[in-house]
Amino acid sequence: MAFPEGFLWGGATAANQCEGAYLADGKGLNTADVMTAGDVNTRRRITDGVIEGENYPSHTAIDHYHRFREDIALFGEMGFKTYRLSINWARIFPNGDDTEPNEAGLAHYDEVFDCCREHGIEPLVTLSHYETPLSMQKFGSWKSRKAVDCFVRYAETCFRRYKGKVRYWLTFNEINCMSMMPWTAGGVPNDADEQTRMTAAYHQFLASAQAVQLAHQIDPENKVGMMYGGIFSYPNTCDPRDVQANDEFMRTMMFYPDVMVRGYYPAYKLREFERKGIVLPQQPGDAELLKAGAVDFLSYSYYFSMVVGQKGEGMDVSMGSPETGYTNPYIPQTPWGWSIDPYGLRHSLNLFWERYQVPLMIVENGLGTFDELVEGPNGVPTVHDDYRIDYLRQHIKAMKDAIEIDGVDLMGYTPWGCIDLVSAGTGEMKKRYGFIYVDVDDEGRGTFNRYRKDSFYWYKKVIATNGEDLG
Ligand code: BG6
Repeated sequence: MAFPEGFLWGGATAANQCEGAYLADGKGLNTADVMTAGDVNTRRRITDGVIEGENYPSHTAIDHYHRFREDIALFGEMGFKTYRLSINWARIFPNGDDTEPNEAGLAHYDEVFDCCREHGIEPLVTLSHYETPLSMQKFGSWKSRKAVDCFVRYAETCFRRYKGKVRYWLTFNEINCMSMMPWTAGGVPNDADEQTRMTAAYHQFLASAQAVQLAHQIDPENKVGMMYGGIFSYPNTCDPRDVQANDEFMRTMMFYPDVMVRGYYPAYKLREFERKGIVLPQQPGDAELLKAGAVDFLSYSYYFSMVVGQKGEGMDVSMGSPETGYTNPYIPQTPWGWSIDPYGLRHSLNLFWERYQVPLMIVENGLGTFDELVEGPNGVPTVHDDYRIDYLRQHIKAMKDAIEIDGVDLMGYTPWGCIDLVSAGTGEMKKRYGFIYVDVDDEGRGTFNRYRKDSFYWYKKVIATNGEDLG
């Protein structure tokens, strides 16, 4: 059997993309709550506060906040071993810097985690998934070291409150997004210069390291991972200039896991900072903290691979898909321009395993595309999503090869948007990933009813056979 006993099969969501109820029970605004909807041709806008008449997808999303019992029951029906979800930071600390947490927010997640356990599901919790309390803008959010204290207080509150209920934690979702989409990654303006982004990333590293230490102190059972946003690229050709350009590009991303897994900045990054005159706001004790706060495992998202070469255009993700000026002619793309490359998943697993030798977990993967709701057996609506099954089958096969043939240590797999939710990149609902269809459109209209897609039954079988039957 390729997949080890106890392999964590499941699915993943993020609070701002599924909960809705954006002001319920004392929640404060967060950075996602001021992002308008866009589409494949229209960038999401960040407004100055909430403006009446604008469409903010996070405000209603799929109303998971009120329907989590139904949703988690469906996950249980599929046989999930784990459910990756995020705590909405502004439900716990509405302003980020409050001295006391919001009890109603804490109580909500008690119910969510209890519900998971009732269904035999182990929660895997992201503390900050693409949202930061908006009120932290008053001190510059992650540009300021104050954000470290805010996050650590929040993390400690969660570790203490949910001790015994949650054992697997991720600190920041796709932390390397600070280099590409700093607003999404941490409430830093998207036009911030590199010094600012690197300062903010440094603060997040410190915050994560402190959280790792606290998690271990509070409960030695806790395992804390980092979460890397799956950017992996091939050189455009074997021309050494293309290879070098690709190496340089990958280093702009790989230093994030280098710091978080090894506990120190790699030499190539320090040299680059020197050349560019970038100065990290280091204080005595920081280096020791980073070292002591190295993560227990490395998780990441994997959707696509990219191509980079000597044109050196860098990467633009502002339209919700990565643009490097190159496309890979050997592989297909989704309607949103995301390449489909199952081998790239095996390649990335080997890259990380060889580099770090820590357990790995794929915490996002999947096909975001259009679905059509049709009448199914007994008149119950369904979606015939064989294209999604095909995508997932190929990617699970790639993980299987990485385990079986290459000897990679892989802990689990939580495909993205196990229930349809709002797209982070475009703010659309029609870019769907789920095993469960949610009847909501891009304007937030619909019945919010949930329907099992064909992939629901297929994934249930995959889990029941521990990945043996992918047919
Ligand atoms: C990851 C994010 O980058 O990709 C998720 O962690 C996001 O929040 C997912 O939803 C898919 O991207 P999109 O733009 O299709 O929602």
